[in-house]
Order: sequence, then structure tokens, then C-alpha cells
Amino acid sequence: MIEQVPSKVDMDKLVSLCKRRGFIFPSSEIYGGMGACYDYGPLGVELKNNVKKAWWKAVVQQRDDMVGLDASILMHPQTWVASGHVEGFADPLVECKQCKQRWRADHIKDGKCPACGGELTEPRMFNLMFKTFVGPVEDEASVAYLRPETAQGIFVNFQNVLNSTRKKLPFGIAQMGKSFRNEITTGNFIFRMREFEQMEIEYFVRPGTDEQWFKHWVEERFNWYTNLGIKKDNLRLRQHAKDELAHYARDCYDIEYLFPIGWSEIEGIANRTDFDLKQHAKFSGRDLSYFDEETKEHTIPYVIEPSAGVDRSVLAFLADSYDEEKDKEGLRVILRLHYALAPIKAAVLPLSRNEKLLPISREIYNSLRNCWMVQYDDAQSIGRRYRRQDEIGTPFCVTIDFQSLEDKQVTIRERDKMRQIRVPIETLASTLDAKLNYEPLEVLPPGGKKWLGFE
Ligand code: GAP
Repeated sequence: MIEQVPSKVDMDKLVSLCKRRGFIFPSSEIYGGMGACYDYGPLGVELKNNVKKAWWKAVVQQRDDMVGLDASILMHPQTWVASGHVEGFADPLVECKQCKQRWRADHIKDGKCPACGGELTEPRMFNLMFKTFVGPVEDEASVAYLRPETAQGIFVNFQNVLNSTRKKLPFGIAQMGKSFRNEITTGNFIFRMREFEQMEIEYFVRPGTDEQWFKHWVEERFNWYTNLGIKKDNLRLRQHAKDELAHYARDCYDIEYLFPIGWSEIEGIANRTDFDLKQHAKFSGRDLSYFDEETKEHTIPYVIEPSAGVDRSVLAFLADSYDEEKDKEGLRVILRLHYALAPIKAAVLPLSRNEKLLPISREIYNSLRNCWMVQYDDAQSIGRRYRRQDEIGTPFCVTIDFQSLEDKQVTIRERDKMRQIRVPIETLASTLDAKLNYEPLEVLPPGGKKWLGFE
């Protein structure tokens, strides 16, 4: 449920920036759009990939106790019987008798249709899973579902991963990918979509150590957002009340972000106990226990599940980094994205289109693009070009001027404080590399002018 507290950022501004600059477009727009589906444009796909990369780095690459997985979206239909989704993954739906719009009953405040004030029907349960048919015959036996969460792909592969990696408890499996839910209430841009991406971890632990690991993951995941620049004031933890807990959960915390629509969930961390492994063991007839070499006993591990939404994270990073500054030319819009998330890391800007500047500028551009996503822009005034890069969150602009032809130096201008420094072209890449990694000044190679020169 969304708590209506005004955030400092306007959703309309974000939607408009995303469309105008190629971050996010409504899906199938030329046909009038597809409800609650969105397409990531040239900059959006970079941003989204960077969010996923940052997550993978933190939860797989930098940990000894984690491995990755990429399971298929279509799974054996029994999976969803065992998990409880066929029976219980449903929202209460009401329909307006007047305008026929449908709403989630638990989102209705005064018993009337939010659109026209009309009378509503009695609630009925509506399963959120998308159904499809596998093979040429469309009958009950060929029904399959598009996965509504990535988690179950991990549970059904528990033994495969255990046998192939010889991991010992505690260990976890991470997976990211598309999930599908036939949501009743949509809107709010990419906050609630019918096709979206999740980043999920199932962390398997010895029963009895679950509470300690639950605490660990709540902290880890909260810090992941703040380490990537989300302001602490815009992030909070909310523990689920007992009557709010999912059927499988013993405890659950939501990490909530102050979205433009109010405080709402960005990630949930649940203690799923041994529910899923037991269910899959029962329905598949397979042994999904773990043999503990120390105690020589078989046990069904407990599971801690940090489950995040890629799209909601993207929305939070966009909203949190959006900034406006008044200056003499009007309004400067800046996305103060963490450097790791910025879609374009640097822009190469020759001062003018003069043909003398072209070879050296292209040479610099070609060498930098081997390392990062870099843009080349020589259209319009340099001031305009800086603004264009600020608006998409590019941390650094590299300007080549006529003096560069003489002294083989270029100017780096930074996005956040607009400070400038001149560096030799030969140390440009290593200087940018250090800066993009937020490294201290001392690591600059010999010959590189100290970054303090910015002041
Ligand atoms: N495996 C547990 C699970 O799926 P969830 O709270 O239903 O839990 C986890 O989903 C995360 O997935 C949410 O915190 C949210 O970020 C994202 N998510 C869920 N439904 C979504 C939707 N319709 N659109 C966008 N993101 C969604």
C-alpha cells in the first residue's frame, strides 16, 4: 500500500525527461500503448543494465557464499501448485457498475469507484498469473504460466546447484530476470507493471540461524541503495504486521523509498523458513534436503529472501538523483546519478566543428569508448552540450580546444560542481578511470595533474 507523503520530485517531470531523452517509452506507443508495459530506450537500457551489474557485483561477484543462476521463465506448471501461486496468488477485485473500471478492493478507501464515484461490485479473487499454452493444443493439459517471480526457479534448482558447486550452508543463489503479473491497479509509470524485472536471492541457512541471517540481509540490502547514492532520508525499513505476512513468511521487512507517489516498497526481505523446499520435495517426490557433513544429518534449510525490483530501483535512482538549479540561462536539470549507474560515463566535446579539431577529438573518443559508454557531441554551443549531458547524468565532459593541438592537453569538466581541470591526453583515460571509481587523488599516475586542481 502506498503512503501518500509528497516527495520532492514530480513524477510528470521524470516521465517527461525519460521520454524526451530516451530512457523509458510507453510500450507499443504507436498503437496507443500496452497497459502497464514500458520499453527502455538507448539511455534507459544502459541505466538498467548498470543497476543490475551493481547488484550482481555486490551479491555474487564480491561474495564467497553466493552463486548465480538464470532459470527459464516457463516452468513446469506443478511448480506453481507447490508454491501456492495457483491457489493463492490473487488480489481482491471490484468492478464499478457504472464505468466498468476494475480496482483492487484493498486500494479502495470510501467504497466508491475512484474514477466516477459509482457503486462497486462485491470483491472476487483474481489470480495474477498470466496463463499460456505450451505446444500446439490449447487445452487444460497444456496450460503453463509466465513466472510471477524468479524465486521458484531457484528453489527447483537447489539440488542441481548444491551438487554442481558443492557449496556448504550457509550459501545463496542469485537470479535476475523478467516476471509477469496481471496487475489490476496499474499506472504510476514503472512502479507497477505487468512485465517487470526482479533481482532475487534465496539464501539457504541452518534452521536456528535464520534470524541472524535475516538481520544481515536487511542491513546489506539497505546499505546497497545508500552506497549507490540514495539519500538516507528517502529510504526506510518497515516490518510487516503479522496479518500482512505472506503465507510462507515468518518475518518480513520492506525497504521503502519515498517515491514521487509516496512511501512504497522497493524491496522485500522475507524469512521464508523451509516452506518452499518442503513443498517442492512433496510435489516432486525428490529429496531436497541438505546433508550436513558435520552433524551427519539431513536437514531442510531455512531460506532468507531479499527480493528487489529492477524497475522500481531504476525509478528510485532516477527520482533521487533528479535535481534542478536556476542559473543565468534558465534551469539546469541534472541527474546526479552515482557514477557506476550513469548511462554515459563521459562525453567528448570538441569546442567547435572546425576541421583542425576533428582528428584529435575522434582519436580521443575512439580510445575512451574502448573502456566505457562515451558520447561524441559537436552540435550547438558548448554550454548547451554541457547541459544535455548534465540532464542524462554524464559525470564528465572532455573538451578539446585549439590549445589542445599545441599542448596535448584537454579540459575535464565534472557534472556535479562544474569544476574544471586540464590534463595531458596521455593520462586522460587513467584520470577518468580513477574518478569514475571515486578513487583518492594519490592514485593518479605520474604526469597526471592533481585533481585538487579542480578547486
Ligand atoms: N519472491 C518474492 C516476491 O516476488 P514481491 O514483494 O511480490 O515478492 C518483490 O516482489 C519485488 O518485485 C517488489 O519489492 C518490487 O520491487 C518488485 N515488483 C513486484 N511486483 C511488481 C510490479 N508489478 N511492477 C514492478 N515491480 C514489481
